[in-house]
Amino acid sequence: METALLSPVTAAYLELEEQYGAHNYHPLPVVLEKGEGVFLWDVEGKRYFDFLSGYSAVNQGHCHPRIINSLIEQAQKLTLTSRAFHNNLLGEYEQFIANYFGYDKVLPMNTGVEGGETAIKLARRWAYAKKGVEDNKAKIIFAQGNFWGRTMAAISSSTDPSSYHQFGPFMPGFELVPYNNIPALEQALQDPNVAAFMVEPIQGEAGVVIPDEGYLTKVRALCTQYNVLFIADEIQTGLARTGQLLACDHEGVRPDILILGKALSGGVLPVSAVLADDFIMMNIKPGEHGSTYGGNPLACAVAMSALTVIKEENLAENATAMGQLLRDELAKLASPYIKTIRGKGLLNAVVINHPNPDAAWELCLILKEKGLLAKPTHGDKIRFAPPLVITRAQILECVAIIDAALKDLS
Ligand SMILES: Cc1ncc(COP(=O)(O)O)c(C=O)c1O
Repeated sequence: METALLSPVTAAYLELEEQYGAHNYHPLPVVLEKGEGVFLWDVEGKRYFDFLSGYSAVNQGHCHPRIINSLIEQAQKLTLTSRAFHNNLLGEYEQFIANYFGYDKVLPMNTGVEGGETAIKLARRWAYAKKGVEDNKAKIIFAQGNFWGRTMAAISSSTDPSSYHQFGPFMPGFELVPYNNIPALEQALQDPNVAAFMVEPIQGEAGVVIPDEGYLTKVRALCTQYNVLFIADEIQTGLARTGQLLACDHEGVRPDILILGKALSGGVLPVSAVLADDFIMMNIKPGEHGSTYGGNPLACAVAMSALTVIKEENLAENATAMGQLLRDELAKLASPYIKTIRGKGLLNAVVINHPNPDAAWELCLILKEKGLLAKPTHGDKIRFAPPLVITRAQILECVAIIDAALKDLS
């Protein structure tokens, strides 16, 4: 690890992680200790704009007072009962979130990847119980370039070698089609054993890959036509990030199974949810699925606050306006090092054009020095996804930082 240029304070934190933690991440060399709204502070007191938002978990801004108050109040009363007993918030939360998104029922989980696993189990069970697929023959179709986490099932559907290499053998019954390719999907759906197509409305980790307009509408129509469930992974795109409550709302499309996570707690604790109607949800019986922490009262209290903040503070509208401003102002920079600027709402990415293959990483280091934190994905792409509470003046200040950083990139 290169710590020579870092202050001794920061270097000491990095060395601790290096020695005692698994090396399964490659973070920027910054050690954070405080967050508020769009800002983060490091252990040396330096302030940064957060342009990653915990991979879109912190849509409501860091340590949102309303969400934190709910956390503290509930934490002083009751945090976990397990599902062996009822708790007084679970039903209230289930009603709240089911009505909020317009589904019959919710199945509460914790991390995003558990949400994905749950959706797949629901789809397989529906295929056997309702569609008449022969036992153990159900197939789930995914799009190439997908990312939905790191469990064995998630990496079994991955096309990224850094996700799956030397972790096999893999989960059977998964198939891939190219993203944003309707003829390929239609061909795959003709197999009567297909239970579901699981897809991100915009591929986040792949580098904010936006499908053609009308893609989701056609996906919906094909899934209906072939009696296949449409699973939308809105873990990164949902909850106002792209300028609508759900990215599917841009096309007025309703998935059969909706997976939410990340900002469902505003970055406070792992809370995920799978929403579906009874004809899907009611095929799972007591004892057939669950999680110790799923539906715990602390998560219920936090999620209700996190969802309330999204609506009360008009975060979707702000994401639309600030996202447009960000892309317009970045385009005006006309930097030779920016090949592409793309995004929807405040889920944006720039693709870096530079002879040095590490230029995106170098640029992120310069941005850090100038007070803005962002992280490359897949080498040449940098995601610009600040908390949705960002203001116009702050966007302009950030674009000035990005401009100065691009000029320093040699
Ligand atoms: C679209 C999508 N689905 C699922 C996940 C997995 O969520 P988690 O890391 O909470 O398991 C992610 C994480 O980045 C994601 O972007």
